[in-house]
Amino acid sequence: MALNDGIEWPKELGQTLWTELEYVRLLQGSLDYLQPGISIYDPQDRLLFCNQRMREMYPEVGHLFQIGMPYALIARAFYRYRHDRVKQLTEDEYVAARIAHHANPSGVDEEYLNHDGTWLLIWDRKTPNGCIIGFRLDITERKNAELKVLHVEKGAKQELEAKVEERTTELKQALESLRATQEKLVQSEKLASMGRLVAGIAHEINTPLGNAQLVASSIQSRVRAFRATGQSGLTRKALEQFLSELETGADLVYNNLMRSVELVQDFKDAAVQRGMRKLSSFLLEGQMHRIEVLLQPVLKRQSHRFTYTVTEGLAMHTDAGALEQVITNLINNSLIHAFEDISAGQMHIECRTHFQNLVLIYTDDGNGMEAAILAKIFDPFFTTKLGKGGSGLGMFVVYNLVTTTLGGSIAVDSAPGKGFKCTIEIPMTAASE
Ligand SMILES: Nc1ncnc2c1ncn2[C@@H]1O[C@H](COP(=O)(O)OP(=O)(O)OP(=O)(O)O)[C@@H](O)[C@H]1O
Ligand SMILES: [Mg+2]
Repeated sequence: MALNDGIEWPKELGQTLWTELEYVRLLQGSLDYLQPGISIYDPQDRLLFCNQRMREMYPEVGHLFQIGMPYALIARAFYRYRHDRVKQLTEDEYVAARIAHHANPSGVDEEYLNHDGTWLLIWDRKTPNGCIIGFRLDITERKNAELKVLHVEKGAKQELEAKVEERTTELKQALESLRATQEKLVQSEKLASMGRLVAGIAHEINTPLGNAQLVASSIQSRVRAFRATGQSGLTRKALEQFLSELETGADLVYNNLMRSVELVQDFKDAAVQRGMRKLSSFLLEGQMHRIEVLLQPVLKRQSHRFTYTVTEGLAMHTDAGALEQVITNLINNSLIHAFEDISAGQMHIECRTHFQNLVLIYTDDGNGMEAAILAKIFDPFFTTKLGKGGSGLGMFVVYNLVTTTLGGSIAVDSAPGKGFKCTIEIPMTAASE
């Protein structure tokens, strides 16, 4: 029916209608140029409105977007382009599912990968009078950018992981070669210290043996001389003098030989062998208490103090005798050297665990020592008390017991007037071999 089909319209009404129509056209025209695709279906699910953009978004079925077209037909046309997710559905099942979904939109934004590879943002709403308004926005660019970022991130992560892996391998190799070098060093250090020990013992024994040899040869010549005088007549006085000289000589030979024997004994004690280990299981606190009790008589006479801290129930399986010897030697050194002119010194042992190891930190607050002494402390026969009871084997024995018998490591620290600190780390369970 045309607008002016024989009816006399009041002029103003015609004007108003014209204006309204123009307005609708204008609106529709502008909707066509909007970026989102828009479609509106009436309560009977027939297409009421569709902008140009919507048709462009679905070119394969765009011709079906005609006013009045039932949604069921449009849904059916989409069956050819259905996704893998719904591949197993028959055409009727597919159409029924789409219609059901269309009639009750979730109302939330959904991102959807279209069959042609574009990404759409879908937004469907039901109006209060039962119409369905749908918006479609092409978000391919944003989505691709997002995927690219993800891809880059994944690539960067993989690169990082590869680098970490590479570094770890490198570090492992470095550690391996360090271990090997350390092992070699330990071996050569053992040989070197054995060499020093042999040189030391040879040097030390030389003096008493030389003395003994000297005295023995003088006795020899004295005996010869005596025999010569005996042939020309022996006086009682000469006999007594000869006997007394012989006695003194014999004493000198005996003392010098005894000193040699002692040194050989020290040498034997110092040359600790791994095979001589005696392993046993014990609680560290018990062992520490034993040492404390043994020390009581000595400490009673002086006013020095010995303390220790140890975790209760710390179980060890190692050579208890060796450990006791190490601690005793350290304590003896504090008593003899550190507290030489100190009346109330403190000795302390702190026991901690570090992974499978026991860390034993021995400290005294005594005189300490010069760097030159500290550097030689483990050398066999190095002593600052030569001729005053020191043989210089105490710390050498400590070193050997810790590194060989107990299978650990030792470090010392000291400075004049700053006391002495010795850190020992040994496995709580000695490796059996
Ligand atoms: N706690 C300490 N404080 C100060 N000096 C020390 C301490 N422990 C060791 N020394 C120094 O290190 C030197 C070497 O010690 P080491 O125990 O090997 O031999 P020693 O005590 O002299 O003799 P030995 O232990 O054989 O009787 C000592 O002579 C002493 O000078
Ligand atoms: Mg000593």
